Amino acid sequence: MSLKNVRLEVMQHLEKDVESLIQKYLIPVEQIWQPTDFLPNSEGDNFFEEVKEIRELSKELPYDFWVVLVGDMITEEALPTYESWLMDVEGVNQVERNPWGKWVRHWTSEENRHGDVLNKYLYLSGRVNMKEIEKTTQHLIADGFDIGTDRDPYKNFIYTSFQELATYVSHNRVAKLAKEKGNKSLFKMCNIIAGDEMRHHHAYSEFVERIFEVDPNQMMMAFQTMMKQKITMPAHFLRESGNQIGTAFEEFSNTAQRIGVYTSADYIDILEKLIKRWEIGNIKNLSDDAEKARDYLMKLPDRMKRLADRMKIPENSYQFKWVEPATLK
Ligand SMILES: [Fe+2]
Ligand SMILES: [Fe+2]
Repeated sequence: MSLKNVRLEVMQHLEKDVESLIQKYLIPVEQIWQPTDFLPNSEGDNFFEEVKEIRELSKELPYDFWVVLVGDMITEEALPTYESWLMDVEGVNQVERNPWGKWVRHWTSEENRHGDVLNKYLYLSGRVNMKEIEKTTQHLIADGFDIGTDRDPYKNFIYTSFQELATYVSHNRVAKLAKEKGNKSLFKMCNIIAGDEMRHHHAYSEFVERIFEVDPNQMMMAFQTMMKQKITMPAHFLRESGNQIGTAFEEFSNTAQRIGVYTSADYIDILEKLIKRWEIGNIKNLSDDAEKARDYLMKLPDRMKRLADRMKIPENSYQFKWVEPATLK
């Protein structure tokens, strides 16, 4: 049987449990938070005072902080790209409305609230150029992405396990920075988003765990392939208006490193957590290739640490169109 057919068979085998995984990891619409829970109520009499407070507190936060928050928000707003990518993965079937398709739709519906709440907050903050941000978002959705996972469920679930944890780290750090500046509402918002990301991370990690149980050799090979080619961030094609595809991503990523929101040390830390979670070192009776892949993975964090020590991050902020120059500091 071809590798592709085995993967399909594995996805079909796991399908019967997806309904219970949805119950375990996702929260029903009626119970979960909504963006308006964290934003001024526009029907209320205090709306303008509440907006004024957001604008006052926003003045306390530095330029690099806004760049990161904007980049995080745009990454969340490119959700159509992620949903359409996952819908196309082998074993996920939108037309037949199979359980995997249901997972993707329900996961998307939770994720959609992230960009929504951050977008409204940024709009009210008065600190950013919304039109430039909107253009970047439209560009990013139009440009799409290529995360090197193909239509392979194994590679895609490695990617999502990693990426959900990466977004947990960055939203959580942004929440902490907001808290340090006394910005409670922004703290709550980013903190609750981080909680969602963590929950999603656990779900995707369980998918991988279950695949390891039935197809350890190919799952190991897929993990190695993803780490060899490096996990690309979902916004790697990020650009500002009038610029070439991908030109804003590096500066956004440098900014996130500079203020400690997401660093190369975090990347390695996430890799170590995945290795631990899946007990990679204890997986035995593998094929020769898979054994080599396992050994490669076990040595990778230390190898990456040695390289990361040599990396330098530019000290000065890059001027984005998203945040007004007058506020650069
Ligand atoms: Fe998200
Ligand atoms: Fe997420």
